[in-house]
Amino acid sequence: MNKASPQADYRESATIADMVQLVSYDEITEVLRSRKFVQGAYAISGKHMMRDTLTLLDGPPHMQRRRVLAHLFDDAAMAGVRERHLIPAVEQCMAEIAAQPRAADGSIPADLVLLVQRCLHRVAAALAGIDGLDNPADADRFVEQVRAIATGATVDWSRGDPQIVQRAAMQALDAFRREFFEPSVAHRKAVIDNARARGEDLKPLSNDLISMILVNEGGAWQGDPELPLREVSTFLVGASQTTAASLVLLILRLEDWFKAHPEDRKLIEADPEFLRRAAFDSLRMTVASPARIRRATEDVTLSSGRSFKAGERVALLFIPANMNPALFGHDAAEFNPHRQVKDAPLWGLAFGGGAHSCPGRPLVTGSRNMSGTIGVDGTMVSVSRRFYAAGLSLDPRRPPVCDTTTHYDLYAEVPIRFTRL
Ligand code: HEM
Repeated sequence: MNKASPQADYRESATIADMVQLVSYDEITEVLRSRKFVQGAYAISGKHMMRDTLTLLDGPPHMQRRRVLAHLFDDAAMAGVRERHLIPAVEQCMAEIAAQPRAADGSIPADLVLLVQRCLHRVAAALAGIDGLDNPADADRFVEQVRAIATGATVDWSRGDPQIVQRAAMQALDAFRREFFEPSVAHRKAVIDNARARGEDLKPLSNDLISMILVNEGGAWQGDPELPLREVSTFLVGASQTTAASLVLLILRLEDWFKAHPEDRKLIEADPEFLRRAAFDSLRMTVASPARIRRATEDVTLSSGRSFKAGERVALLFIPANMNPALFGHDAAEFNPHRQVKDAPLWGLAFGGGAHSCPGRPLVTGSRNMSGTIGVDGTMVSVSRRFYAAGLSLDPRRPPVCDTTTHYDLYAEVPIRFTRL
């Protein structure tokens, strides 16, 4: 399945072709953790759609926003999100699918790519503080807008004309602003202004990103009045698109695995850990961006002896690093849901490291615990477990279609069928 991967040639992409490209797990970890390197990616979108957002900041202002945001992702908050948003959203999607016309053999056809977006959008919206998604048509429009905004945020990796990609993304951002963002802000502002006027504690109201920005504790978000829109839309992209892409790849890898190991399919139900470990190993082989990029703020020499000049940018290639046999075993280049790993997280560098490491990891993996053995399903596993319970299989007549517009590892369509709905 990886042979058809649209990102196979990402190393030659103009975005990183001229940079030193690190593939060593240790070197990458050292760069991610070093204070002498700062965010160096998003050369195009960082000037417009993502300007001054969390991802682009470094140093004390970045730490201040991260501290505020951390409250969104503690284990209690994650459990609440799972119960109140994820599980109902997945059940609603399955009910909608069950109401679709059936094929002659009784199965129900669907597109996995669209379906995972529908399942995940409510979780991302709830964390961001976006309302108005109860009606399926509104939800579908929201999903389309976020996907279009994502192509603008990741324009550095686009295979198309950056100006055309950005124009379409800006149109989607504008529609999102009018339809969803402004009404959600107005609603929260009224609640917060009231509480302020009554002298109440505002902390309990800060349970989504928009409310956090409005409360603006310690001035973490101040200045530019357009910043909240950029911060919230960028957050929505990170909160939905990476998990959606990872979930599609997990199902494709599992279905490949079951072809060679048909006896393992029963483990989905028989062993709750099976899907979790499969998700972690699939994440190890997945990247949220083809490469992460950092810029040296001063001349620096790594423990390996490799040096960088002040201002030099470096590309961090997580995929080859996550295939290090010394850490992940002799078959590290292959997907293996039974993999044992001792000296690294099961998902390797999938969530990055250091100051910019992914704050959403507990939602995806189930908890803050780095060992992955937590007995709880994160988003990827909750959704895939429900799909398999409904008898998911790939459509044998219609193979998956890669998204060839980007260096990201994305699929445009993955036809599936449900046989137990
Ligand atoms: C499979 C799913 C995901 C993967 C593989 C992933 C991966 C990553 C990685 C590698 C970074 C670091 C970027 C860098 O170093 O430049 C990151 C940052 C980030 N992620 Fe995730 N992520 C996922 C899901 C999520 C979710 C569900 C959320 C929110 C609910 C989220 C929110 C963020 C944010 C806000 C940042 C920026 C952090 C910063 O720059 O300080 N991510 N993610």
